[in-house]
Amino acid sequence: MKNGKTTLKVSKDIELRLPQVSYADELFCIVDRERTYLRTWLNWVDDVKKKENTLEFIRTSQVFNKGGQRLSTIIFKGEQIVGSLSLIKINKPQKIAEIGYWLSEHQQGQGIITDSCRRIIEYTFRTLDINRIEIRVASPNKKSQGIPRRLGFIHEGTLREALFLYDNYFDLELFSLIRSDWQTD
Ligand SMILES: CC(C)(COP(=O)(O)OP(=O)(O)OC[C@H]1O[C@@H](n2cnc3c(N)ncnc32)[C@H](O)[C@@H]1OP(=O)(O)O)[C@@H](O)C(=O)NCCC(=O)NCCS
Repeated sequence: MKNGKTTLKVSKDIELRLPQVSYADELFCIVDRERTYLRTWLNWVDDVKKKENTLEFIRTSQVFNKGGQRLSTIIFKGEQIVGSLSLIKINKPQKIAEIGYWLSEHQQGQGIITDSCRRIIEYTFRTLDINRIEIRVASPNKKSQGIPRRLGFIHEGTLREALFLYDNYFDLELFSLIRSDWQTD
């Protein structure tokens, strides 16, 4: 994050931290334990076979974070890792960023991702000079669509068969939030 910041405080318990090599073991354990749940809509889960893969993910994230092409963060509840929230693409010339997220299965239903998105949206609009934030969600993933809807994103349309996952095509729902929508919130 800018100005040497390594965390964004979301609430009393929740914090977004920049990925560190020391998080690799705990992060891998969550993905390994919850692969059946996570892999349903996340295409990278099957590529995480051993701890080294998570370590590689963290190192790559650090490089992209530093270069400003992404902003990957790990979600902490107290001192426990519970998920990840990232600007998975930052298009600086067009001032567009896309949000991606996942949450540990047993941490669902508390608003952790909604609140974390609210925080990263504020940071993105205020600090990164981005004008448009997108969220793309597979059409059957209704739980995930609740997040942009709750945050006042506009549903712009359906991208037909834009996701190819496990030999099947899925439509993607495209949501966006423009800085001027957000400022009037
Ligand atoms: C998609 C995913 C992040 C949704 O998790 P979630 O817990 O529903 O999302 P949030 O943390 O924002 O919590 C919202 C839920 O908490 C409830 N909630 C409780 N307190 C809340 C609060 N203070 N604020 C907002 N919501 C609150 C909401 O009603 C909602 O529950 P509902 O869906 O039953 O109505 C999670 O299911 C997941 O990681 N799935 C696997 C990976 C995935 O699909 N990633 C997204 C790819 S696009």
